[in-house]
Amino acid sequence: MAHLIDGRAIAAGVHAETAARVAALRARGIRPGLMFIRVGEDPASQVYVGMKEKKAAELGFHSETRVLPAATPEADLLDLVARVNADPQWHGLLIQAPLPTAMHAPRVYAAVSPAKDVDGFHPVNVGKLSLGDPSGFAPCTPAGIQELLVRTGVPLEGAEVVVLGRGNIVGKPMASLLVQKSCHANCTVTLCHSGTRDVAAHCRRADILIAAMGVPEFVRGSMVRPGAVVVDVGVNRIADPAARGGSRLVGDVAFEEVSAVAGHLTPNPGGVGPMTIAMLLANTARAAEQSAV
Ligand code: GUN
Repeated sequence: MAHLIDGRAIAAGVHAETAARVAALRARGIRPGLMFIRVGEDPASQVYVGMKEKKAAELGFHSETRVLPAATPEADLLDLVARVNADPQWHGLLIQAPLPTAMHAPRVYAAVSPAKDVDGFHPVNVGKLSLGDPSGFAPCTPAGIQELLVRTGVPLEGAEVVVLGRGNIVGKPMASLLVQKSCHANCTVTLCHSGTRDVAAHCRRADILIAAMGVPEFVRGSMVRPGAVVVDVGVNRIADPAARGGSRLVGDVAFEEVSAVAGHLTPNPGGVGPMTIAMLLANTARAAEQSAV
């Protein structure tokens, strides 16, 4: 049976470090501030933003959530972003994805000041990540996965990593992070996607397999090299007449099958999710520190 990587415990360690940084900032008269913007009433986004704001408050951040109706004109959202950019009480700004389809998400994310873009979605931060410039912000989910692997003691130097999914929030930045020539990276990264021929053959080569393509239980036991480290990023709701409410959540990994083959596996929930929040708040602490020098 695979060793389960306890994302909640590892996130608690990161939170303790962040709380100490927040306390040090507050001792200097700086209250780190994080603004959340949510547009529309996507139920998953409501839950995610609620969890992030609760943890921010617990760690001593000043935080606020603005909720805009789904029909808000993009120009009104851009006005709010400009006001947050200009307001020194806010060191970080998070606009929860997905945005309503009527909005042009790349234009919205490009309007956030790169110095306050603690989500790492602005083109300047995407570029800094690609260049290996640590003054930028890396997106929280891939940064959290790297931290999970480091704190679990998984060797990264020279490891064969296969990332499934080329999304801008997880897959692509995950590959950028792990391919860097630095001590917690230096991996050989293969990025697979819907155009990849024989995905299973790539997966079977992986020392570390990161599933982030959003296909329920895509990774089967037969696709995993015995002893490999498997990270499940997926959160997929599937119909199940036997479940309460007629549906249940599953990852991108067939948990039972893969846990019989893998050496390490992230559970879902309790694996990657808590680390996303931990990295968001660590990024926000750094945004406040960088604003004060
Ligand atoms: N939606 C899913 N993941 C994320 C994230 O990391 N940040 C934001 N802003 N929205 C998301």
